[in-house]
This record gives sequence, C-alpha cells and structure tokens, in this order.
Amino acid sequence: MKEVLDLIKQELEASFEANGYDKKYAFVSLSNRPDLCEYQCNGALPAAKEYHKAPMEIAEAIAASLQSKDAFESVEACKPGFLNIKLFPSFVAAYLNDMARDTGRYGVEENKAPKTVIIDYGGANVAKPLHVGHLRSAVIGESIKRLKRFAGDKVIGDVHLGDWGLQMGLIITELSERKPDLCYFDEAYDGEYPTEPPFTISDLEEIYPTASGKSKEDEEFKARAMKATAELQQGRRGYRALLQHILNVSVTDLKKNYDSLNVEFDLWKGESDAQPYIPDMVQKMKDDGFAYISEGALVVDVKEDTDKKEIPPCMILKSDGASLYNTTDLATMVWREKDYQPDEYVYVVDKRQELYFTQVFRCAKKTGIVPKDTALTFVGFGTMNGKDGKPFKTREGGVMRLSNLISEINEKMYAKIMENGTMSEDEAKRTAQIVGLSAVKYGDLSNQASKDYIFDIDRFISFEGNTGPYILYTIVRIKSIIAKYGKDFGGFEIPVPTTESEKNLELELAKFNSAIRGAYEETAPHRICAYIYDLANAFNHFYHETRILAMEDEKKKGEYIRLLALTKDVLETCTDILGFDVPERM
Ligand code: ARG
Repeated sequence: MKEVLDLIKQELEASFEANGYDKKYAFVSLSNRPDLCEYQCNGALPAAKEYHKAPMEIAEAIAASLQSKDAFESVEACKPGFLNIKLFPSFVAAYLNDMARDTGRYGVEENKAPKTVIIDYGGANVAKPLHVGHLRSAVIGESIKRLKRFAGDKVIGDVHLGDWGLQMGLIITELSERKPDLCYFDEAYDGEYPTEPPFTISDLEEIYPTASGKSKEDEEFKARAMKATAELQQGRRGYRALLQHILNVSVTDLKKNYDSLNVEFDLWKGESDAQPYIPDMVQKMKDDGFAYISEGALVVDVKEDTDKKEIPPCMILKSDGASLYNTTDLATMVWREKDYQPDEYVYVVDKRQELYFTQVFRCAKKTGIVPKDTALTFVGFGTMNGKDGKPFKTREGGVMRLSNLISEINEKMYAKIMENGTMSEDEAKRTAQIVGLSAVKYGDLSNQASKDYIFDIDRFISFEGNTGPYILYTIVRIKSIIAKYGKDFGGFEIPVPTTESEKNLELELAKFNSAIRGAYEETAPHRICAYIYDLANAFNHFYHETRILAMEDEKKKGEYIRLLALTKDVLETCTDILGFDVPERM
C-alpha cells in the first residue's frame, strides 16, 4: 500500500501545480506540533523565494484548493506560511481497513527487486565462551536479517566463527602437554583418528583460559603455540583433526546458546573455511599488480585522494607467509561470491573495527574480489557499558559470560512474575525466559546501534517505560481483551474514530509501512522500537479512556475489537522482526 505520507504528498503536488508552483515544494512530514495538526508542509516558505511572493499567500491558495479533498478534515495556512493538515477520520479508517485485509503484511509491500544479502554477524570465537560483547552482534544482526527478509530480500545469515587464530594453537599446545600420548601429536601416525573428541565443552572452556594465561607469562609456551598455529594452518593432519573436534564440540554448545537468544544462522562457516581460497586469491592479487612486498609483508594500497585521515595499506600476508584476519575476511568474500553473488554484504561488528573494514572493503573492490556495484555495509555497534559507564563486567570485575547474564535476568524476571502470584512455577519460568529476552533485546535495539549504551537490568525489566516488557505487556493486555470478548469479529470494520485517543491510535497504526521502510533504508532496528513504543502508548491511552467490553452497542464493540486485533498484529509483526516472542500471559 502507498504510505499515508505519499498519499498526502500526491494531493499536495497536484495542488501546488494547479496553483502554478513547482511540485518539488510539496513536501510533507509528520507534524512537530501534534497539538495543532497531524501532518505539515512547509514548502510555501522556500517557494515564496522563487516566486517572489509572500509565503502566506502561497499557503492560503494551497489550503483553499485542498479543502474539497476527501482525505483532509482541515488544511490551514498558518503564519509565516506553514500548512497544517488534519486527516478525515473516515479516510484514516478506510486506510486501516485496507491494512487489516492485507493479512501478514499490513500494508508493507515486498521489494519489487529483491536483493540477495549476506549478513555476517555473531562472530563467536570457538572454544571461548560467548561474552556480552558478542551479544550485540547477535541481537542487532538477527533483527537486520529479519527486517530485510520481511522486506522481501533473500537473506543469508553467516556466523563467521573465529576458528583460525592463535587460540587454536594455544588449545593444541596445552592439550599436548596434558595428554602427550594422543595420536594427534604423533607425526608418524597415519591411521584414522578417533571420532570421539578427546575433551568435553567444559574441558575446552577451562583449557583455553589456562593456555591463554600461560602464554602471557611464558614466552616459550607462547612460541610453541604460535608454531602449532602455523602448522595447523599449513595443514598438519593431527592438528586438523583436533580442529574438527574443537569445532564440533563448540558449535553444538554455541547453537544452544544462540537458540536461547532466538538467533538462528543459515550458515555456520568460519574463518577456516576461507583457507582453500587464499593461495589463488593471493596469486591473482600479485599477478594483477595490486599486491607488493613492503617491509617483508605482502600489502595492497587502499588509500584514496579524498581521505581526510591516513588509511594504511591492507596487509595480505605476514612476512613469514602466515595469513591474517584480513586474509580470511577477503578469502571469505571469494567463496561468498562463488556461492551467492550477493548484492549486499552487511557486517555487524564492534565499531572499533571500522578502519579495518574500510581497508578490507576497499581492497575487495580494488582487486575485483567483489564487483564495483556491490554494497558493502558496515554496521558498527558501540560498547555495552555498566551503570558506572565502563564496559560491562561481573561484580568481581571479570568478563561477564553471556549465559550468566541471561540467567541473572531470567531469575529477576521470574521473581517479578511470581510476585504477581497468578502463575504456576512452571509457567512463570517459561514466561520469565520470553519476557527476559525481550528486556535484553529491546534494551539493546532501542538505541542507535553505533552508540554505546548502559546495560541497566532493573530498567530493562520494568513493565513500564520504553522497555521490551512494556511492549509485551501491551500485547498481552490486548490478547486478554480479545479472549474475553470471545466471539468472531472478522466481519466488523475498523471504526471511524470519534475521540482524539482513538484517532491518535489509528494514525499511529497507519504509520506502520513508513516505519518499516525507514528502518529498512537506514538498516536501523531502533526505528522499529521507537515506532512500537509510540503505538503501545497510543493504544494504552485509548484503552484507559474507552470502555470496550462494557460497551452495549454490539456493532461498536465488535469494531473496537477489530481495531485492537490490528494493533496486536502490527505490534507482533514488529516484535518478531526485533527477534523476541510474546507470552500468552504476564
Ligand atoms: N570473531 C570476531 C571477534 O570476536 C568477529 C568477527 C566479525 N566478522 C568478520 N567477518 N570479521 O572479534
């Protein structure tokens, strides 16, 4: 469906032209004085300059010619030349009826030319526990994926595991000290390797930090770990087999973790999957004259004349020939091109990696790994801070594990729900998980991604204010009213609003497609949060002022329920895009 803004704009354009003015002045926006009007057009002011007339004269002429239109209850010219617009209640209701009939999409059209998009998010490092730093990437990436899918794009989400760095060498080295007799360490061994891994996930979670601690104190240990990393990268059989075990054990555990966050990847590829593409890629960069040796390392220049700050060359291989984070990211693009030819790549990564991605993107375009017109989008997110304004830590000052954070929230939520005393322990547990997740995700997504934000559990789990639980509470309230009504309301129309709070609710609903488009165009889930917060407020206001179930007029009551159902459907479509569920009760 056309957006309300566009419908208004169309009328305004016709009117500007009919009055002899260029239609480029017919721009409309939501009113910034909702007490005076619903929409506004300020185009008469710049038009006055071009046509050497008083702005009020132009505004009055436009207002007069719009008086007769079906859409407008009033169009007023106000000093110094604004046009204040109010829509006809029946126009708004008719618009919502069209929306309501468009089940599932509620007026949001699918992209006419759907794009193929790869979203690189999550970015977990195998064998290391997920920490809160990974939370943002997972939460933001998942909602961008869902938003783009809702818009009609073909979207592939890839977790891009960190499975190729020094952490692998550290684990291998530590394991070789503890169990030197394992066949993986015997270079003469040429038999099959066992299918059972020589460790469990809890072993791994202990082995890595121990090894990492050692490497900081023990130079000799670190040197051995680096050697093991290099040997692994060069394909040493036993180490490859160990890598496979580490991957299997970690991925099973990671899937559980991501599952509990409602985060789902289509691809579970990692840095190691890019390895086979590195030699050819490097050779081609050399052959084409892009890569050259500088201070022993192989690099590609990526600076441009218009740069305001220095962009260092993109390093392709270290002086010892070892590959780097850059190398795997570039080679990953090679297989992504081969398998998917995406129109767009989206990377949801900590914004401190922005310069790095500038180098990688430029290098990929310059060397032709990615076609010139492919969009490379970096969605950099800020840091999640504690209440003290410093990066979020445990009470003891350590790195907070994601699973601990989630359990802490679930416990608090559980206690809160049990206080209300209406649920069995079992239901309260399940509900606490759903509502807890909404608290975490909404707390994150309601901020512009690039900004740092303060993780304030007590605020996030509140049922009041701009929070996930408040949104869910509103939906649950609507569900309960509809359940109490208990009859089929499908035959009723959306009512023509008669009160201010009812009209306000309908106007908010009518903004759904433009809110989704705005969020899509800016890759900005926070715009959806802002929209549903306004919508939930508009609904609650209406609800407090209106007797719904006690209404005697059965037709009017049915129409109200129809309006409530549309409100619920729109809210739920949005929470689904944000990536959290709605409980039956709260
Ligand atoms: N594993 C990385 C980290 O934990 C994030 C990966 C981001 N994605 C990428 N394609 N580089 O910092």
